[in-house]
Amino acid sequence: MMYMLSLGIFKVNTFGSNSMSALAELYQSICNCQKCDISLTRTKAVPGEGADNAEIMFVGEAPGWHEDQQGRPFVGAAGQFLTQLIKSIGYEREQVYITNVIKTRPPNNRDPLPNEITNCWPYLERQIEIINPQMIVTLGRFSMGLFMPGKIISQTHGTSIKKDGRLYFAMYHPAAALHQGSLRSVIQSDMLKIPALLAELKKEKEHVPTSHKAEDGFVQAKLF
Ligand code: URA
Repeated sequence: MMYMLSLGIFKVNTFGSNSMSALAELYQSICNCQKCDISLTRTKAVPGEGADNAEIMFVGEAPGWHEDQQGRPFVGAAGQFLTQLIKSIGYEREQVYITNVIKTRPPNNRDPLPNEITNCWPYLERQIEIINPQMIVTLGRFSMGLFMPGKIISQTHGTSIKKDGRLYFAMYHPAAALHQGSLRSVIQSDMLKIPALLAELKKEKEHVPTSHKAEDGFVQAKLF
């Protein structure tokens, strides 16, 4: 599968305040990136935003017009819905981390191209490494395709897989509700599954015998 990329070895998030500078450095690289032609047409790159120690990372598809103007993810209509969804599970936007598969708006909001996804992958990989979230919520099929290759979103939304101590939870993209009203309640009820999944994961981790816990702050996180 094209997106079968390995995350290799992760350092557990012991960066503390270093994670902020690591993110700032990464944002600089993203903003300077010219690997794809779409870098020529962007107003601003959109690296991502949120807590540098977030438990939950939301990964959307690509910035749209509003995001391109502001350099911030999910600030248009789909973003307003995402913000409501985040609040519905008891979090503020600032407490989670929000980013996209690709960090530059494709012209006319077309789908991201395979080479754009491949070129942008190291940035997402580094965000995951720095933030080390307990759970990654994929928003839409492009994001899901990175972490759950070969899955079909209509069958996979609302389900999770666990890999190396991290949960990957698939959801429809919030914009889907704007185009197809019937998906709104599906998305809302999928979102409400997150707190219990996260609580279960934390409970499991508490019960892992010390000898099985990651040593020296390192965990193996080979995704595929
Ligand atoms: N859609 C996305 O996938 N990401 C954004 O940031 C905005 C809309």
